[in-house]
Amino acid sequence: MIRVGIVGITGFTGLELIKILLNHKEVEIEHICSRSETDKRLFEVYPQFLGVFDKVIEPIDVDRLQRVDVVFLALPHTVSAGLAKELYGKTRIIDLSADFRLKDSEVYKTWYKVGHPAPELLHKAVYGLVELNRDSIKDSILVANPGCYATSVILAVAPVAKYVNGTVISDSKSGVSGAGRGLKEGLQFCEVNENFKAYAINGHRHIPEIEQELKKINNDIQVEFIPHLLPVQRGILSTVYMKVAEELDFKRVYEEFYKSDYFVRVVNNPPSLNNVRGTNFCDLYVHFDGRTSTLIVISVIDNLIKGASGQAVQNMNVMFGIDEKEGLGGYSYYP
Ligand SMILES: NC(=O)c1ccc[n+]([C@@H]2O[C@H](COP(=O)([O-])OP(=O)(O)OC[C@H]3O[C@@H](n4cnc5c(N)ncnc54)[C@H](OP(=O)(O)O)[C@@H]3O)[C@@H](O)[C@H]2O)c1
Repeated sequence: MIRVGIVGITGFTGLELIKILLNHKEVEIEHICSRSETDKRLFEVYPQFLGVFDKVIEPIDVDRLQRVDVVFLALPHTVSAGLAKELYGKTRIIDLSADFRLKDSEVYKTWYKVGHPAPELLHKAVYGLVELNRDSIKDSILVANPGCYATSVILAVAPVAKYVNGTVISDSKSGVSGAGRGLKEGLQFCEVNENFKAYAINGHRHIPEIEQELKKINNDIQVEFIPHLLPVQRGILSTVYMKVAEELDFKRVYEEFYKSDYFVRVVNNPPSLNNVRGTNFCDLYVHFDGRTSTLIVISVIDNLIKGASGQAVQNMNVMFGIDEKEGLGGYSYYP
C-alpha cells in the first residue's frame, strides 16, 4: 500500500483528494493535516464523511509527514514551497500550488509578486502534466501539479503547437471553486449568481506557465489568455483560437497525439461541462474554419479533478508504477 499524507484538507482540492483516495485500492491515507481545524474529526468540518471516514485532523508535522510514501500539498503558493523545502529528499511530494511550475524564479517573482521561498528546488521539480511528461514523472520525487486553466489550454494546443503561427488566443471560463474555499471579494453569491464577467485582463498567472510548456514544442508561441468567471460550482471551458501554417486533418492529428491517453478524449460534438464534471477527463473538440483559416479547439475539464486533485492522483499513479486510472474511474455528475 502507498502511505499518503494530505496537507490542506480544509480546502477544496484537499477535500477532493480525500474523496478520490478513499476509492483508491492501493492507498492508505495516513495523515490528513490542517493549520486551522486540528484535533477534530473530518466530519466535524465536512459532515458528508460521517460514518464513512472519521479520521482525526492533525497539525502539519514534518516529522510525521516524512514517514509516508508521498505527501500532497494542497496549500497556497509560498506556503507549499516552505513545507516542500523541509520534506524534500525525505518523501515524495506532489504540490498542487503554483510554487514549482515555473522554472525561473525571476518569472515567479514577476507574476506572483513575491520572492520564491525555495528557488534551489525549481529545477528538481517535474511539471506534472502526465500526457506530455509521463516518462520524467515516473522517476521524480517532486511534482508540480499544473494549474487548472493551464491544463485546459496546454492540452488543447500541444498536438498542433509545432504548426502554430503567431499568438494563441484562449477565451477561458471557470466555475467559482477555481478560486478556493476562502472568502474573497467578488465571489459572493450576489456577485456570481446570474452573472458573468471577465477578470485578470492585465495578465493571469497561468500565462507564463502555459507559455513555458508550449515553448518547449514551439519557441515562438505566445499566448493571449482571458479568464471569465462562470456562475457554476466547478468546470472549465476554454475556447482556443490558433492560426496554423498548414491545413491538415486536425481531428486525426489530435486523435493520434492522444491515442495512448485514457483521460483525453477527442469528441465529435462541442463538449459541455456536463461531459467531464466529477471526472478526470479532458474533452477536446477540434474545428477548422477554412473561411478564416483558424483552428478552434474547445477544451473542457473539471477544475478540481483534471485541473487539480485528479491530476495529482494520476501523477502519483505514474510515480508509483501503478495503473494510471486507479482511483479515477466514474462518470460525470449529470444531472
Ligand atoms: N481550486 C482549484 O480549482 C485549484 C486548481 C488547481 C490548483 N489549485 C491550487 O491548489 C492549492 C489549494 O487550492 P484550494 O482551491 O484547495 O484552496 P483553498 O480551498 O483556499 O484551501 C487552501 C488550504 O490551504 C490551507 N492554508 C492556507 N494558508 C495556510 C498557511 N499559512 N499554512 C498552512 N495551511 C494554510 C488552508 O487551511 P486552513 O483551513 O487550515 O487555513 C486550506 O486547507 C492552491 O495553491 C491553488 O492555487 C487550485
